[in-house]
Amino acid sequence: MPVIVFASPKGGAGKTTSTFLLATELANRNMNVSIIDADPNHPIENWRKDGGKTSNLNIMVNENEDSILDDIDNASGQSDFVIVDLEGTANLSVAYAISRADLVIVPSQRSTLDAGEAAKALSLVKRQSSVTGREIPVALLLTRTSPAIRSKGLKRMLESLGENKVESFIVEIHEREAFKAVFDHTCTLAQLEHAQVSGLDKARKNAAEFAAEAIQKLNNLQSKKPKKVKGAA
Ligand SMILES: Nc1ncnc2c1ncn2[C@@H]1O[C@H](COP(=O)(O)OP(=O)(O)OP(=O)(O)O)[C@@H](O)[C@H]1O
Ligand SMILES: [Mg+2]
Repeated sequence: MPVIVFASPKGGAGKTTSTFLLATELANRNMNVSIIDADPNHPIENWRKDGGKTSNLNIMVNENEDSILDDIDNASGQSDFVIVDLEGTANLSVAYAISRADLVIVPSQRSTLDAGEAAKALSLVKRQSSVTGREIPVALLLTRTSPAIRSKGLKRMLESLGENKVESFIVEIHEREAFKAVFDHTCTLAQLEHAQVSGLDKARKNAAEFAAEAIQKLNNLQSKKPKKVKGAA
C-alpha cells in the first residue's frame, strides 16, 4: 500500500498541515488511511486526543527511530494509504521513513531561504535512493501561497533550487484560515461549518485538488517500472 512521507528540515514548512489535509481528504473518499505522527509535538495525535475523529482514519504515534520502520510496515498491512508526518530536522527517523516511501512530498514556502531547506530534503532523498538502490520518487509542494496572486511561484522556486528537473505538484496549498481552523475546532475540513471560518469552499476545493494530484502521481509511478539507482549494488 502506498507510503507517502512528508519531509523537510524547515520547521513550519507545512508538513503537518499537508499530511492532515491529504489524509482526511482520502479518508473522506472512503480509503482507509493511517497517519504516522512522527512530529515530536504530536499535533495530529493531540487533535485525536482532543476529540478529533473521522471515518477511515487511524492515527498512530511514532516515538523514535527504533520503531519507525515497524510502524510503517504495520500500518501498511491495514491501510490503503500510509502517510507519515516527520520532524522538521534531518535525523535517523526521517532517513528511515524516506527509505520506505513510495512518494516523498517536500512542502515549502516560496522563498529563496526556504528553497535552501527544500534542497536539503531533496538531497536526503537522493542519498536514501543510493542507500536503498531504489529511486525514491519525490515531489516538491508549494505551501502557504496566496490564492489572490497568480505568481510564477513554482518556476521561480525551481530557479532558486538551481534546477528544473525536480518533480513538482501543479497544485499549491494556499494560505487559508480553514487549514488552521481544523486544529482550532478539532475537526476535518468536511466537518467545519461555514459559520466557523471564511473561504471554506475554496479551502475544500484546494485540498481535494491536492489529493487528486497525489493519487495521480502515485498511479503514474505504479505504471512505471522501478529504476535501479546509478552506483547501487
Ligand atoms: N496552508 C496553510 N494555511 C494557513 N496556515 C498554515 C498553512 N500551512 C501551515 N500553516 C500554519 O503554519 C504553521 C506551521 O505549519 P505546520 O505545523 O504544518 O508545519 P510543519 O512543517 O509541520 O512544522 P514543524 O517542522 O514544526 O513540524 C502552523 O501554525 C499552521 O497552522
Ligand atoms: Mg509538523
